[in-house]
Amino acid sequence: WTATRDKGCKLPLPKGSMGFPIIGETCHWFFQGAAFHASRRQKYGNVFKTHLLGRPLIRVTGAENVRKLLMGEHSLVTVDWPQSTSTLLGPNSLANSIGDIHRKRRKIFAKVFSHESLESYLPKIQQVIQETLRVWSSNPEPINVYRESQRLSFQMAVRVLLGFRVSEEEMHCLFCTFQEFVENVFSLPIDLPFTGYRKGIRARDSLQKSIEKAIREKPLHTQGKDYADALDVFLKSAKENNADLTMQELKESTIELIFAAFATTASASTSLIMQLLRHPAVLEKLREELRNCGLLQDGLCQGELRPDTIINLKYLDCVIKEVLRLFAPVSGGYRIATQTFELDGVQVPKGWSVMYSIRDTHDTSAVFKDVEAFDPDRFSAERSEDREGRFHYLPFGGGVRSCLGKQLATLFLKLLAVELAGGSRFELATRTFPRLISVPVVHPTDGLRVKFFGLD
Ligand code: HEM
Repeated sequence: WTATRDKGCKLPLPKGSMGFPIIGETCHWFFQGAAFHASRRQKYGNVFKTHLLGRPLIRVTGAENVRKLLMGEHSLVTVDWPQSTSTLLGPNSLANSIGDIHRKRRKIFAKVFSHESLESYLPKIQQVIQETLRVWSSNPEPINVYRESQRLSFQMAVRVLLGFRVSEEEMHCLFCTFQEFVENVFSLPIDLPFTGYRKGIRARDSLQKSIEKAIREKPLHTQGKDYADALDVFLKSAKENNADLTMQELKESTIELIFAAFATTASASTSLIMQLLRHPAVLEKLREELRNCGLLQDGLCQGELRPDTIINLKYLDCVIKEVLRLFAPVSGGYRIATQTFELDGVQVPKGWSVMYSIRDTHDTSAVFKDVEAFDPDRFSAERSEDREGRFHYLPFGGGVRSCLGKQLATLFLKLLAVELAGGSRFELATRTFPRLISVPVVHPTDGLRVKFFGLD
């Protein structure tokens, strides 16, 4: 629990508090969320020490500090998830691989997110979003947007990416088990009955069983060019790279993909809907852009969207970027120091865990004018406030471990925004907007209650 400094280095350790024995400051962090880091950053500076999830940790904020860490992947730092995350995702996951193995696995994954593959997923994603919005609109009660967005991103991952043909009932069971898994991915690694960690292990085993069944029953299309979904692309890509995947590797990769997409995309979808509700002028400007591109006629979105049409929707691009700046779903990434090094005038000793912060870096970056305001035009061609070095804006991380699903997530959010602007009427169902919490991803305390209406 008491972390020691590297005596060979003259620099001091970062300032900060290690909290209580064993649990450190985990409870403070869990209950205070974003305020926990903000208060310590104000007190101790951009690089401070704390103790979370059973281990000492140095938390790092600021574009220059984050750049040094992310560019130092493999030399200064390497990946280091909390023990619970590591165990639950498994030894074959990207999250747990380093060096050449990581590079090789990433190469296999990359094809799943190529331009060509995204183009083939587009109509299916649009269909899943349209069906979901129809269900939301036909419900006489307000929708819990965060929960239902989780269901939507889960459907996108299971049906569109993996091509699993499961019944509604099976889908619901898988979804509930997955929620249990995600809720316990960041837990204290204490394997006792009723601990979150044990629940997570049970959920993982059950998911792996269902996924193995779905993979065995799924018709695979790995011959020729006619891939049906990402799993087909993945298997084909593995073959091309001479990597025959075992069933265990496939199951872990599948869970990792759903995990990476699930809460992040749901969080961003919820934040998008909340900002469109808060800023009717932004929604109207979006509608105007759709009208100008011939996509909106008589208040309704017309026809199938093509990738080149989406690229031309510049204001839409600004809106999505601004949502991800102000409400970055992932607060940061975990690493471990492979050697002692200097950061912002203090030492990061070899063997210590380090977490780079995305949200705090956005919140404190001087390149963004009026940093707390929701202002999509800051990303317009005239202003492009993010041009000052890319580590001021990093919702998808950076360096060799940056988000592989970045283009897919952005495409999904754009399609959702187009459908919301083009085909939906929606109103906040509570008197005031809810408070936000940031663990494990940013989301509203009440899930965000919204009434959706079909168009008359
Ligand atoms: C990694 C954010 C959606 C797949 C990451 C990282 C971030 C991130 C910050 C880097 C973490 C680190 O440095 O340790 C997001 C956000 C999303 C999103 C904000 C939605 C708005 C997705 C989707 C997928 C995906 C939809 C795939 C279906 C991955 C994978 C990695 C990753 C596989 C690990 C890459 C590696 O270790 O090499 N994501 N992500 N993400 N993301 Fe995403």
